[in-house]
Order: sequence, then structure tokens, then C-alpha cells
Amino acid sequence: MKPKKLHIKTYGCQMNVYDSERIVEVLTPLGFTLTDRVEDADMVVLNTCHIREKAAEKVYSELGRLRAHQAHKAQAGGRMILGVAGCVAQAQGQEVLNRAPFVDLVFGPQTYHRLGEMVARTMREHGAVLNTDFPEDSKFDSLARTRTVNGAAAFLAVQEGCDKFCTYCVVPYTRGAEYSRRATDVLDEARQLVDLGAQEITLLGQNVNAYHGEGASGQTWGLGRLIREMANIDGLERIRYTTSYPADMNDDLIGAHAEVDKLMPYLHLPVQTGSDTVLKAMNRQHNADDYKCVVNKLRTARSDLALSSDFIVGFPGETEADFAATLKLVEDVTFIQAYSFKYSARAGTPAAALDNQIPEALKAERLARLQALLNAQSLAFNKTSVGQRFRVLFERPGKHTGQLIGRSPYMQAVVVEADTGLMNTVQDVAVVAAGPNSLKGTIVDEKRACA
Ligand code: 5AD
Ligand code: SF4
Repeated sequence: MKPKKLHIKTYGCQMNVYDSERIVEVLTPLGFTLTDRVEDADMVVLNTCHIREKAAEKVYSELGRLRAHQAHKAQAGGRMILGVAGCVAQAQGQEVLNRAPFVDLVFGPQTYHRLGEMVARTMREHGAVLNTDFPEDSKFDSLARTRTVNGAAAFLAVQEGCDKFCTYCVVPYTRGAEYSRRATDVLDEARQLVDLGAQEITLLGQNVNAYHGEGASGQTWGLGRLIREMANIDGLERIRYTTSYPADMNDDLIGAHAEVDKLMPYLHLPVQTGSDTVLKAMNRQHNADDYKCVVNKLRTARSDLALSSDFIVGFPGETEADFAATLKLVEDVTFIQAYSFKYSARAGTPAAALDNQIPEALKAERLARLQALLNAQSLAFNKTSVGQRFRVLFERPGKHTGQLIGRSPYMQAVVVEADTGLMNTVQDVAVVAAGPNSLKGTIVDEKRACA
């Protein structure tokens, strides 16, 4: 088989990062190896995000640039196959081909286990292939059981899709109905990842805490049970999960936070807004007090737990009082990290049809106010980390030679001067300084301290 080069660019969430890894695994047996250089590639895949308009539009500008590379390659007698994967492919399949007719493959998130077949077809027939099915057979059953691991932190998809239908969100349409993988398959994949060197596994799902997979003897396991079982895997040091829906945060899962040391004390729990009126208009199945109640239970279970969240400002009809309720919730709960967005109307979602849309300038102004508060909370948390000791998993080299960057239990980036031999290991680090986006630390060398 002639070796071929694959370039893959991933947009959006961690699920897309996971999907991209699996796409590479599907293409490897066909003779593809990864390249960072687009111009060298025989195949380029854009794994796209449709969540907000800006994310989706980026794809079309990138495709414009790729067209030039594709033409260049053709002039030199070669061929560059262009593939569009992910949620833009799912939502706008035919439109992608209309707007960018030079694209060869458009395939949705549930179809990439059939990519080998699709690539072969486009090579043979030279025509475009469009596949946005939600096939009966689960891709997880057909995907090769051989995983690859890049570094010591790995993602593992346990659940996909969403049945919540928040009125602003495209996910139920692009990722389909909620689906949980069998717990036994998840545990097998986790063991494989650990054997390959993973020390941290993040369980992924659009609604991960709605997980209800089939357990070993046929009974249904929730996420709490799955996490407890994962914790028994030797060599696995850290467990995380994302993204959770507040109303699905059940007592069993909260209990896992109290019992399982390997479960990191950091949770991403999107609230979106602090206004009950807006929460209702968003079709969220919780109000602000329900959210605070869940947070209290979590903090009772694990006192060192810290939270991050997602916020949308400028949802249709949001008043100044609604926005003030969001600021109040942030003050009351305290987040160490957050992602905040201006509401973006998405075609086909109920909120896009509402007539009380908020002007962009007002959205921008509210976003700036919210972000100022969130950034201050994040910096304050980083500052309280100074003088503490954290276990840090080192993941990548720093900007300067001799530096390594790792993650604290709270996902803070921690920069230390250390030997590259410590890459992909967990070390005790004393935090000596804090900035808005990272901490500085020194490795605690117990042996040297005792000598
Ligand atoms: N506009 C703005 N933000 C959105 N999100 C989802 N849909 C939209 C939208 N239409 C945000 C939510 C979600 C995160 C992944 O993206 O905050 O939690
Ligand atoms: Fe979208 Fe709401 Fe489902 Fe999250 S819970 S993926 S915001 S519909």
C-alpha cells in the first residue's frame, strides 16, 4: 500500500477531539499517516463545529484556503481529497457541497466507521460522497478495538447525543438522540488506554451524566457506578467527566465524588444563565435554586470541589434584571473557570424564531461585564493556589527550553523547570506564582529534602 498523508483539523468540543482520534485510527489501516503540513496532505479532514454561527462560518473560509492547496496539488499531478466531518457536515450536508463543490466527502459524526468505504468510493468514482445518516449499527461496535494514545491524558466517549432540546442548541439535531455505550465496552477501552500509557481519562458525552449503559450482568449502570468501576483500574490515576446537565446530577453520582479519590475535584457544570425566566425560555429543566442546591450537595460530598460553567448572554428577551440574576448567581456560586458566549441564533432551533432578539451591541456589553467578573474569580482562585502543593500531570513542553507544562487537579496549566523525562508523569508541585491563565511551580523532590 502506497503511504498517504492525512491532515486533520479539529474545531469545537472535546467530543470532536475524540472523534478526530478515531477517524485517524480508521484511516491508519488504509495507509494514512498524520502530517502537520497541509500542503503535503493527500487527504485533509476538517472536523467541524456548528454550535455557534462563528464556528460554522470558519469552516467555509478554511475550505477556501484548502481549495488553493488542492488545485496546486492537482497541477503537480497529485490529488488532495477534502473531507468535511462533524456537526457542520451533519447539519448542512448538501449545503457544504453547494458552497464548496470541490469537497469530496461530507460525513456526519455517526458515520465515520464507514470512512474506509467512503474514501475508496471517492477515489474510484471521483464524485462527492455525502453521508449524514444516523445508522442502525452503532459506530462504536464497528470501530477497531485498537486505540492509540497521545500522551498521558486520554478522552473516552461513553455517551453521545442529547434529548434535552434546549431551545438555542443544535446538538440534539447534529448528534442525534441520547445513546449510552455498554459499560463493559467502556471499561475495555479504558483498560486499553491505560495499557497504552494513559494516566488520566476524561469520560465524554454531550450529556455525560445522563449515562445509563448496560453493565456486566445486564443491569443498567449510571455514571456514578461506571466511575467507581473505572477507579479499580490499576495505573489509572485520574478520572474526569464532561459535560454534565444540572438536572441529571443524581445522588449516586454525587456520592462518587465523596468516595472516589481518583475523581478529580473539578466539575464542568453549565448553568447558562442565572435568570429563572430565561432558564424557562431556554427549556432548561432546572432553575437557579436547583443549580445552587446541586452545587451545595457536591461541595458537601467533596469540600475541595471547584466548578466551571458555560454561560449564554443575550438570549432572546433577556432583560437587564435577567442579566443581573446571572451576575448574582456567579457571585453566589463562584467559578474557577468559565466559557461565556453571546447568544447565536441557529437556524432550525426554536429560539431563533423568537422575535425579541437582543441587539449585538447589548450582547457584547453584557458579555464584557460577565467576563470581567468570571476572570476576576478565576484569577482569585489561581492566587489562592500559591503556597499549595498539587499533583500535576505533565503533558507538553513549555515555551522555553527546560520547561514543562502540566495540569493541576483543577485543570490549571502549571509551568515548571523540569527535565523532559518527567513528561507524561504525575509529580508533586509547589505552586510559587499565579497569573490569569497559568501557575508557576517547582517540583517537590522529597528525596532531596531529606538528604
Ligand atoms: N449560542 C451561544 N452559545 C451556545 N451554546 C450552545 N448553543 C449556543 C448558541 N446558540 C453554548 C452553551 C453550551 C456550550 C457548549 O455552547 O453555553 O453549554
Ligand atoms: Fe445542547 Fe441543552 Fe443538550 Fe447541552 S443539554 S447539548 S445545551 S440541548
